Amino acid sequence: MSAVGFAPGKIILLGEHAVVFGHPALAAALPQGVRVELDAAQSFEISGVGVPVDDPRVLVAAREIGAAFGITGARVRVTSELPTGGGLGSSAAFAVALARGVAALAGRVGCEPEIEEAAFIAERLFHGRPSGVDHTTCARGGVVLFRKGPPTRVEQVSVARSLPLVVASTGKARSTATKVAGLARLVEEAPARWEPLVARLGALAEAGAKDVERGAIAALGAKFDEAHALLSECGVSCPELDAIVDVARKAGALGAKLTGAGGGGAAIALAPEPGPVIEAIRAAGFAAHLAWIGSETA
Ligand code: PMV
Repeated sequence: MSAVGFAPGKIILLGEHAVVFGHPALAAALPQGVRVELDAAQSFEISGVGVPVDDPRVLVAAREIGAAFGITGARVRVTSELPTGGGLGSSAAFAVALARGVAALAGRVGCEPEIEEAAFIAERLFHGRPSGVDHTTCARGGVVLFRKGPPTRVEQVSVARSLPLVVASTGKARSTATKVAGLARLVEEAPARWEPLVARLGALAEAGAKDVERGAIAALGAKFDEAHALLSECGVSCPELDAIVDVARKAGALGAKLTGAGGGGAAIALAPEPGPVIEAIRAAGFAAHLAWIGSETA
């Protein structure tokens, strides 16, 4: 018996960090993702690229996902188009792809809620107490407005006009859990100072969903800029992310911001004329590529 599973990566357009505190986040699936090929076996063996195969948590995650579908083992080969630890959802895409592959191996069809639940078990192993926005976006695809629960609420956002998004990587790995803990400490110590900023980040995500629905990309770009300033104030940016954002804006982007946990990882820029933006980011020493968000392939 063999089976395959695929899931796209994700980017957070607006609302990262705020989502941990119960505010909405606006996130989108990327055209690139993670694919797994499985052959039935006695126990789990994982090889390939896109997952840290030496990390013992990967095997534990596979066993947990297997248990959710009554599968005790499989030889799993992974291929990924996403950088690991880069804020593009590589771990969540792996978890969803694996859950899909395992469900297929078990002969289960039409069990998306169980797939999301199993993927969330794996995400908790990797990231402690994630909000769930990453694996939910990878599982649902398209653009989603997500609120963690309980109960979790997920709205699919229709896209009036595909978004030309430049995705840039700092090449600097970071820990999502550390960045989340840093902001949680600030909020706990001085709620009156930090809660309004966090709430504003969530409000931008909610309003940004309307921009996506209307195709109001200049308004969405302005929200990217405001969100980046707020996230910097919250201490989750870094010099590399600030440099990418600055260069992208000067090269004509309508707005730019860090995406995901910050402290490294990736930044995004909304760029109807992406060529000069990509060139400027590359000239500054960072990797950059264009991703159409909300197109048929995402
Ligand atoms: O590090 P990433 O790209 O997976 O993003 C995490 C998003 C946060 O809001 C910072 C954390 C979370 O659990 O939602």
